[in-house]
Amino acid sequence: MTKDTPPKPASDQEHSTSSPNQNRYQQLFHHLAQFGQEHVFGFWDELNDAQRNELIEQLTQLDLHSIEQLFQNSDNAPSIPTDPNSFGEPDGFALNDPRPRFTRDEAIAAGETVLRDGAVGVVLVAGGQGTRLGFSHPKGMYPIGPLSAATLFEILLTKVQAVAKRYGTSVPVYIMTSPATYDETVEFLEENKRFGFLADDLFVFCQGTMPAVDIETGKLLLSTKHSLSLSPDGHGGMLSALDHTGAFEHMCARGIKQLFYMQIDNPLVDVAAVDAIGYHVLSNAGATTMVIRKYDPLEKVGNVAVVDGKTQIVEYSDLPDEVAQLRREDGSLVLWAGNVAVHVWDVSFLRDTAATDTGLPFHYAHKKIPYVDEQGNTIQPAEPNGLKFERFIFDLLPSAQQAILVEVDRKEYFAPLKNPSGAPTDSPEAVRSQMTALHRAWLEAAGVFVAEGVTVEIQPSFASTAEEVANKVDSTTRFVQDYILK
Ligand code: UTP
Repeated sequence: MTKDTPPKPASDQEHSTSSPNQNRYQQLFHHLAQFGQEHVFGFWDELNDAQRNELIEQLTQLDLHSIEQLFQNSDNAPSIPTDPNSFGEPDGFALNDPRPRFTRDEAIAAGETVLRDGAVGVVLVAGGQGTRLGFSHPKGMYPIGPLSAATLFEILLTKVQAVAKRYGTSVPVYIMTSPATYDETVEFLEENKRFGFLADDLFVFCQGTMPAVDIETGKLLLSTKHSLSLSPDGHGGMLSALDHTGAFEHMCARGIKQLFYMQIDNPLVDVAAVDAIGYHVLSNAGATTMVIRKYDPLEKVGNVAVVDGKTQIVEYSDLPDEVAQLRREDGSLVLWAGNVAVHVWDVSFLRDTAATDTGLPFHYAHKKIPYVDEQGNTIQPAEPNGLKFERFIFDLLPSAQQAILVEVDRKEYFAPLKNPSGAPTDSPEAVRSQMTALHRAWLEAAGVFVAEGVTVEIQPSFASTAEEVANKVDSTTRFVQDYILK
């Protein structure tokens, strides 16, 4: 079949075979044709019943009208002011603020109270495809421990266990996967005895998907002759997934009022950070977001911007350089706060938004997406050929009644694993080196000697804060060879 000869419905074709799917096929064909998408049936006659079922099932779920509109709007750039005075100062708690609205001690006390009450849950988003890393399993299974080779799942889930133990409570974790990673993730967690979690404390749920389309034509891409190229709908898919998988009901039954959000790729994160949770509840915030002070105006992180009184995060790729470089009269950077993708959400805010909102907006990613062409050949494009549609969870910030930020130290908080070994940034080597630098700093602060060039790894089951390390180690200890504290 060529581009110029679109397929006809099978009933019009000379050698069509009848199948239980035939009626459905006819209806769908006409529906797809209204949107110029009937090419996805190009291989129908070659498919067996199971393959036909799969294709029909996928097509039935599509909202072609929305996809068409998304494609038509894909060139619209978000509008961002260019005058420094159009940006407000974000509300919240910067490091070294001489007169904070609440002191860190007050925040810690408030955070401890909600943690001890069992009112905090953790949501861990782990549904991404991890395409840059190029690992053939869910990213959470990546062995990142510098000496232990502990996986990202093990490190993050053990940190949650440590928090629960510290406050004499339980902290349920809601793990978001995508259809492609769900089974392997569940199997991995079960094989590892859920890392000590009771079954009711680990809620694994699946996000939705969106089809990819051709960048030039908006036509749906096929990944095989009988399936669309589908990808997870972004970490923002969390909102509707929490709603329709019953996770919100689970939180309600468990009395979970605040949700600490983290991503699977950052093993450094201070999980369920007591001070951040405290600032959040003391401020009556619907949303709190942790930020780092950018070391360069053009650093490739999302930027917190306050426009018309609304706090929002603007992706660096959507931000013109001249806006990223804007300064106030005193010389300080206007967009100084970089997103580290760690947030605290008020559960009732999330629930209300999921129930009433038409949905978070979609963002566009231009990607190299392998596809099946009209001749049935699988093409591996050398240049971006496809558009993916993704929702971002931080787009909830502007709707929060009160959105605050809490500045954190990047050395203690942020080491995302994005790229494969050998890449200049965000590689396994970079993440491991940040982990060992932090663990060394904790030990040295406790008076312990760590010889030059020695790698120390502190497992979260031993300690996961500087204070815990100081309480547990003997300051006369000397590490002269690599060592795991467990
Ligand atoms: P990224 O946007 O960095 O994507 O996700 P990724 O899948 O890890 O990597 P690339 O871009 O394909 O190389 C940031 C976080 O959001 C989660 C990821 O699992 C990661 O924790 N995420 C992303 C989802 O849970 N679902 C998605 O649809 C996208």
